Amino acid sequence: MKRFFSYFWPTTRQFSSEINGTLEVTYFNGKKVLDTENANYSYGSLQKILEFGLTKVDLKSVENLLLLGMGGGSVIHSLRNTFEYKKNIVAVEIDPAIIKLAENEFGISTSEELQIIEADAFKFVKNSKEKFDLVIIDLFIDTNVPPIFYGKEFCENISILLQKNGSIIFNVGINLEKDSVANETVSSNFGSGLKFLVYPKVNDTNTLLIGKKFAS
Ligand SMILES: C[S@@+](CC[C@H](N)C(=O)[O-])C[C@H]1O[C@@H](n2cnc3c(N)ncnc32)[C@H](O)[C@@H]1O
Repeated sequence: MKRFFSYFWPTTRQFSSEINGTLEVTYFNGKKVLDTENANYSYGSLQKILEFGLTKVDLKSVENLLLLGMGGGSVIHSLRNTFEYKKNIVAVEIDPAIIKLAENEFGISTSEELQIIEADAFKFVKNSKEKFDLVIIDLFIDTNVPPIFYGKEFCENISILLQKNGSIIFNVGINLEKDSVANETVSSNFGSGLKFLVYPKVNDTNTLLIGKKFAS
């Protein structure tokens, strides 16, 4: 019934988070989305952007996937339902309010094939001993990627925990959209063992960097 009425009257509920400010869950046209004050976080344009990224990697060779920035878990939904990826996912999310919303509003919770870890992604990649075949980097506070995630230390740590022939999907946001030099700098921060392709204005907004680690 709620779904039916959402085609005529979108309903929005607000939640507050110490980390992300006001969070909004809107039920519109039979679909729920998660937004912050100025950005879509999950199940809207953000999901389409990451789905584009997923078409650029070979998911068949992925056994273990790291998602940095779980949000409401829309890319997990896409992976499971659209891309039929059934293997392991480790999702890292700093905001406990978001983890709660992901479960209560979007049905995303820990299972045998999904570990949800409440942690700062920067610290997680610094300390993780686990290796991954695909890393999705989708770290935002409202419309901004915290600058530490463009830096050398973070990028080098990602390279270390990536398996040979592994891939990266990095949603660098709109900040670097027109700045090819900045995109090259971020790509080079991962080190010489990775090659990147840059996809600007995906879904008319964000830039995606798609990287692949070559076996040496
Ligand atoms: C755009 S949302 C992620 C959407 C998600 N990938 C999806 O598919 O629905 C960005 C997320 O990054 C999280 N985030 C921001 N800084 C973080 C950090 N330092 N460590 C872990 N998560 C962080 C935010 O709390 C937010 O949930």
